[in-house]
Amino acid sequence: MRVQGRHLRAVDWDARKQAVVWIDQNALPFRFVLRHTRDPEEVARAIETMSVRGAPTIGAAAALGLALVWQHMPAQWEKWKQRFLRTRPTAVNLFHAVAWMDAGFQAREDPVARAMAWLEREVAAHKAIGEHAAALLARAGNRILTHCNAGWLAAVDWGTALAGIYRLHAEGEQVHVWVNETRPRGQGARLTVWELAQEGIAHTLQVDAAAAALMRAGEVDAVIVGADRIARNGDVANKIGTYMLAVLAQAHGIPFYVAAPTSTMDDNCPHGEAIPIEMRAKEELCMVEGVDEEGIVQRVRISQAEHVRNPAFDVTPCALIDAIITEQGIWRPSSSCSR
Ligand code: MRU
Repeated sequence: MRVQGRHLRAVDWDARKQAVVWIDQNALPFRFVLRHTRDPEEVARAIETMSVRGAPTIGAAAALGLALVWQHMPAQWEKWKQRFLRTRPTAVNLFHAVAWMDAGFQAREDPVARAMAWLEREVAAHKAIGEHAAALLARAGNRILTHCNAGWLAAVDWGTALAGIYRLHAEGEQVHVWVNETRPRGQGARLTVWELAQEGIAHTLQVDAAAAALMRAGEVDAVIVGADRIARNGDVANKIGTYMLAVLAQAHGIPFYVAAPTSTMDDNCPHGEAIPIEMRAKEELCMVEGVDEEGIVQRVRISQAEHVRNPAFDVTPCALIDAIITEQGIWRPSSSCSR
């Protein structure tokens, strides 16, 4: 995808610097910052602090971080594998990417080539998802609601939920995207709005709680979201608030689609209740960040709450999902869904 006329990926290998390079998603949309490192600990911290985020981008960052370990400290391989596996618990792409790197390490392949093969596979998958999703969305209508950020920032390139929208736009279709703010971290307000603006796609931001009334008013033709882990039966873990949207979509007869590469599937997980849900710090709810009138980034407290519950994800039961769109095509879990 292009940023200020330059083709960039959310995370990549910088061959000249022999370093991992990524877009600092915590700085967006106020500042555009590219970070470079040859230190795997910095990559692991970037995942933990959500400087890189979104399931496929997390997996790609871990693959590249492990390429650094393999190049510079191969004797510490096992320790670093565990370090990366502990960074975030829900997005299964991370676990698959670490297993992919481990198999390459055992087979004595080239570290960077092995990591880049993971990235290329993901990017090709997202491009194919875009083609399948565009066909479904074109039939549903052009007013599309999305939650969180499942664009190219979250998915190395192209995006998952947004890939179909980018594809339709490239084909000259008029699309309008309703962007849910996505409390508490505001991935919709901060990142999806920024991405759609870069691509010149019409969009409107709304608070998460506005989705029900918007659907009732007949203003939404389809809902499309990404995923962090898909269980064997088709239950989907995604950003907190996704389940609520699926219930609402069903109540209003609106198609609810999930777009994700097969690297987001967890065959070891029989159903959604077995998916580990990350609980995050209470500061994410109690503090907000923004820029003041001088453009200086400020963090301010908005709540004194002592007890805060902050799950980062929820699980949408397969029965509420009209289609899961992967690079392999369309899966309709609600027709065969167990539980
Ligand atoms: O906590 P985040 O911002 O990493 O959560 C991201 C999401 O929930 C996305 O919807 C998901 O990873 C799919 S991204 C292509």
